[in-house]
Amino acid sequence: MEVSSYVTRPLSPDTWDDFARLVEANNGVWGGCWCMGFHPEGVGKGHTVSGNRLAKQAHVRNGTVHQILVYDGDECVGWCQYGSPVELPNINNPKAYAKGLGEVPDWRIGCIFTGSGHRRSGVARAAVGAALAAIRDAGGGLVEAYPEQVEGRPAQRGAYFHTGPADLFEEFGFERDRKIAKWRWVMRLRIRS
Ligand SMILES: CC(C)(COP(=O)(O)OP(=O)(O)OC[C@H]1O[C@@H](n2cnc3c(N)ncnc32)[C@H](O)[C@@H]1OP(=O)(O)O)[C@@H](O)C(=O)NCCC(=O)NCCS
Repeated sequence: MEVSSYVTRPLSPDTWDDFARLVEANNGVWGGCWCMGFHPEGVGKGHTVSGNRLAKQAHVRNGTVHQILVYDGDECVGWCQYGSPVELPNINNPKAYAKGLGEVPDWRIGCIFTGSGHRRSGVARAAVGAALAAIRDAGGGLVEAYPEQVEGRPAQRGAYFHTGPADLFEEFGFERDRKIAKWRWVMRLRIRS
């Protein structure tokens, strides 16, 4: 699938090595989370870097992860994770989230990541666009993202935007539903297949 000048592929046993190379080139991402934060196992206390890697690989083997990889030529340079709330139960600010929850979403956008040498070139835009296309192909439904507000605060390092900047989701038609932290929003988009 072509999105802008980048090619996208799903994370699968066939693309695991490409994903692993990108994670390893970026110090495991966040010091070794291996993009496990949204998965049921979570990260942090009691988890190790090698355990996170093994857990991610097991999800890939078992087909319990949805993640779009973005390629620049042969190199995997970024991703967008998505999935059902059962697949991705661990969102930030869960209490504030639960308080205002009306309709339960069909899909969540989890972590997005672009390798440090490839930022501000549209990689995340390509990743999110391809994730939304995959959701449409899978039947569509209500999609939630949990991005950070950009306006009204000083410029932030990319690391603060592991759930994406709100502006990026606005580009795709997401609307702000409610605030669940000082700078974090629940944003929603209904996709019809
Ligand atoms: C946030 C992040 C994913 C953005 O990726 P990217 O490929 O650089 O983003 P894009 O080039 O596709 O940007 C699309 C739009 O998002 C917004 N945006 C992207 N990075 C931004 C930043 N640092 N500050 C403000 N807005 C930003 C802009 O609106 C941008 O459009 P523009 O460049 O035309 O202004 C990237 O900085 C990153 O990976 N940060 C680390 C996140 C992380 O640690 N993830 C861990 C996951 S386990």
